[in-house]
Amino acid sequence: MTTVTEHDPQQRFSALAFGLTLLLATAPLGCATDTMPSEPPASDGPAAANGDESIADNDASKTADDLEYPKWETVPPGANADYNQRASLIQRGHLVYGKYCLGCHGEYGDGEGPATKRLITKPRDFTSGIYKFRSTDSGSLPLEQDIHRTITRGLARVSMPGFPVMPEGEKMAVIEYIKTFYPRWEEEKDQRQLIPVPRPPDDLAEDFRLARGRIIYLQMGCGKCHGTDGRGTGATQTEYTDAWGNPQRPFDFTRGSLKGGNTPEDIYRTFHTGLRSIMPSFDGDTLAAVTADAFETLRATLDPQEANRLAAVAGDFPADGNSVFSEMSDGERSELAERNSWDLVAYIMSLRRPTTTAAAVLGNDS
Ligand code: HEC
Ligand code: HEC
Repeated sequence: MTTVTEHDPQQRFSALAFGLTLLLATAPLGCATDTMPSEPPASDGPAAANGDESIADNDASKTADDLEYPKWETVPPGANADYNQRASLIQRGHLVYGKYCLGCHGEYGDGEGPATKRLITKPRDFTSGIYKFRSTDSGSLPLEQDIHRTITRGLARVSMPGFPVMPEGEKMAVIEYIKTFYPRWEEEKDQRQLIPVPRPPDDLAEDFRLARGRIIYLQMGCGKCHGTDGRGTGATQTEYTDAWGNPQRPFDFTRGSLKGGNTPEDIYRTFHTGLRSIMPSFDGDTLAAVTADAFETLRATLDPQEANRLAAVAGDFPADGNSVFSEMSDGERSELAERNSWDLVAYIMSLRRPTTTAAAVLGNDS
């Protein structure tokens, strides 16, 4: 202690501390009647205050809700099972995502993965809550099973791979995980409107369906973007950007697989739901509004041979807008919309050119 100098605050402090320790250590000896000599000295002061509080908490008049400590003590066993199950699913999904998806969709789910710069069609930004391939209407979130379908099959013509052999548990987990990138999911999921897809008729390949489908295609303006021949010829809209401002070419119906799937039901679903970018959704009333009157106007723009061929089925459509919207019941109109939808599906499927090259079938062009 004699080495303490005025100039060394550090040493002075430790000397002080040493003095205090001595003092505390001798204190119990100074009061022999004290009941706490064996207690550690440090707990003396604060322990008194804590003791008071714990007495108050034990007050029988207080209910569990008055207590300040976390409520988990009052949760009945099993009540958090759902939450905990989802939490562990998300944890597992995080691992799956890191392994198979992060490279494109990015660590934060914003579509900014390391590979994104090199891709023309950008990976989905999951934070936007915008999905193209849904069974739900245009403004809605997709169903979980829609995401499941996308992950299992992948998306044709773009880099999004399919994961057909990924174990079910991993798929469920990664779906739960990517949902968390859009924080309003839970809030908006109950507003999803399902677009029903009925069973396709057996006679999809019949000539009269293809001819009617051609009329519907032309009247509804599909050719404005897809071209009069379904492969871009004569398209009047030529600049396309998707919902995120990136370039997005319309589909060439003559080659390549469809992203939303190639079955009649898939194609039906695609133009009923739209793809939330340039590809619009077509509802029942729009699909029912194809008329013989409008065909007469259209006829003049067609090659005479085709015009004659199509004129043979023009009588299958209602005469004019009035007959569709005033004379028909709602039920009749939706039946007509369904018939027109399948005709359109039939026509689109007929445009596919027979081919033997894998590139044309897969259409990996973007
Ligand atoms: C090589 C890049 C790549 C990888 C790896 C990848 N994706 Fe994608 N993904 C894409 C691209 C590109 C799109 C956007 C396609 C489009 O807009 O047409 C996309 C779109 C999606 C969509 C949106 C579909 C919709 O309806 O809009 C989902 C869901 C999806 N991916 C899930 C996943 C999951 C889950 C994984 C990992 C298991 C994964 N992706 C791995 C590139 C990738
Ligand atoms: C305003 C432009 C526009 C109009 C009008 C339009 N489409 Fe599209 N369509 C697109 C674009 C762009 C794509 C490509 C979207 C993509 O690859 O994500 C597309 C893609 C499609 C696909 C393929 C989707 C897939 O699964 O790969 C189908 C089927 C389709 N359109 C049907 C139709 C039908 C039927 C009509 C008329 C009733 C129509 N489209 C009208 C722009 C349009």
